[in-house]
Amino acid sequence: MDKVIIFDTTLRDGEQAPGASLNKEEKIQIAGALSELGVDVIEAGFPVSSKGDFQSVKSVAAAVKKSSICGLARALKKDIDAAYEALKKAHRPRIHVFLATSKIHMKYKLKKAKDEIVRLSCDSVKYASKLVGDVEFSPEDASRTDPEFLFRVVETVIKAGAKTVNIPDTVGYSEPQEYGSLIAAIKNNVPNINKAVISVHCHDDLGLAVANSLSAVKNGARQIECTINGIGERAGNASLEEIVMALKTRPDLFGGLSTAIKSARIYKTSRLVSKLTGFTVAPNKAIVGANAFRHESGIHQDGVLKKRSTYEIISPQDVGFYETGLVLGKHSGRHALKERLKAIGIKLSEVQLARAFELFKSLADKKKQIFDEDLIAIVEDEIRVSSPIWQLDDFRINSGFRAVPEAWVRLKRKGKNFQAESSGDGPVDACYKAIDKITGLKGRLVDYSIHSVTAGKDAQGEVAIKIRIKNDIISARAASTDIIEASAKAYINAINKFSSKEFRNEPRPS
Ligand code: KIV
Ligand code: ZN
Repeated sequence: MDKVIIFDTTLRDGEQAPGASLNKEEKIQIAGALSELGVDVIEAGFPVSSKGDFQSVKSVAAAVKKSSICGLARALKKDIDAAYEALKKAHRPRIHVFLATSKIHMKYKLKKAKDEIVRLSCDSVKYASKLVGDVEFSPEDASRTDPEFLFRVVETVIKAGAKTVNIPDTVGYSEPQEYGSLIAAIKNNVPNINKAVISVHCHDDLGLAVANSLSAVKNGARQIECTINGIGERAGNASLEEIVMALKTRPDLFGGLSTAIKSARIYKTSRLVSKLTGFTVAPNKAIVGANAFRHESGIHQDGVLKKRSTYEIISPQDVGFYETGLVLGKHSGRHALKERLKAIGIKLSEVQLARAFELFKSLADKKKQIFDEDLIAIVEDEIRVSSPIWQLDDFRINSGFRAVPEAWVRLKRKGKNFQAESSGDGPVDACYKAIDKITGLKGRLVDYSIHSVTAGKDAQGEVAIKIRIKNDIISARAASTDIIEASAKAYINAINKFSSKEFRNEPRPS
């Protein structure tokens, strides 16, 4: 097979990154984008883990038809039943069963002997295979599992009906040579291995997740599990965009293996995930970082002007970076806005367009030149947010060199206005305290950062925050030409996330 199956787990392992909680609407939005991107399998969540996760997987399964939709389950009947129920509306449902096989996990976490692990793996795969035709099995912590025992488990689950066997490097312990050899050894030592696809799932604790995945592919793996922007547990998972572009850029090394990913949609998808999870992408991040295609040194700039390939191995357009230019201004009309949005790949309904035009006009009153990034910020912050519970209606700040900062804030909820005043350590703190008085929730700011969306003194500032409410860490962001307004909106977005019905703080799986 010359195709590598892309299995995206942004909505499951990616969402396990602390502070990356997504609500149902956000998951549906990301799943839609992943499907448009060309992802073969979308792991939408872990249905048994919480009511919220169950509902999200169910909604994604009903909404997204082009990709297979997968639900995770431990090797337990109740987990498999929950995954099956959540996936009922999927066109191509997949149940992903996992059970740890390494000595350390079996002894300390599961307290089970080898034979019992084999029996449970076999029974759970048999049970899941009766419910859906497509079952994947993961021997968790496979890279630290005794190889002979791993071969035995893999052979058993394939006999029991697993169509994909995934070999997770759960704790990111492996190294490319070693991990590639493990995949080759599985191919050589498991007699029925040709009846299943070998998949890999690498974590980035040593910064080797992508290298390990690529080494595995060279040794016979044909499915890669990855996430957008590499988000995930601890140091994260292998990044989808890096894997896809490595395979595409070096066909000489990977024997012409290809994926179904439409690379020109990568940047857009990366932005969406960053915005909805609140995880900013580092400027030097490969493929999707803001500096990934910027040439600073004079020698490099000169080379690129003479021939781009002197210093560019990927064309920015190939991953969906577009040329930034001055686009619109105060006098631009609705048609011009629609055309520009179309040019940068944003489709809106007529109602959304009308709202975007209003916002665009009010931004154009404050800012002379409107760039593509400004339009993206408008759409991401104001248009595509699902019916917010609280909205910022107005605010006033009094702050100065010797004055105690004070804020007056008015929020809207279901058409009614609520207002409060507060002082604070600074204008943002005063504002957040006033918002807390109105909502009755107390958020503690864990992280706050601001960057300008474009260049120029009148640029919009994009504020990204993480706040703790009760035991949850919630990420959110917002942009405005007024940084206090952006800060207040980001805070309100976080509160809305917390308050949305779908958001449940139920225990995550270990
Ligand atoms: O890292 C891991 O082992 C996992 C499994 C559930 C596949 O995420
Ligand atoms: Zn994982």
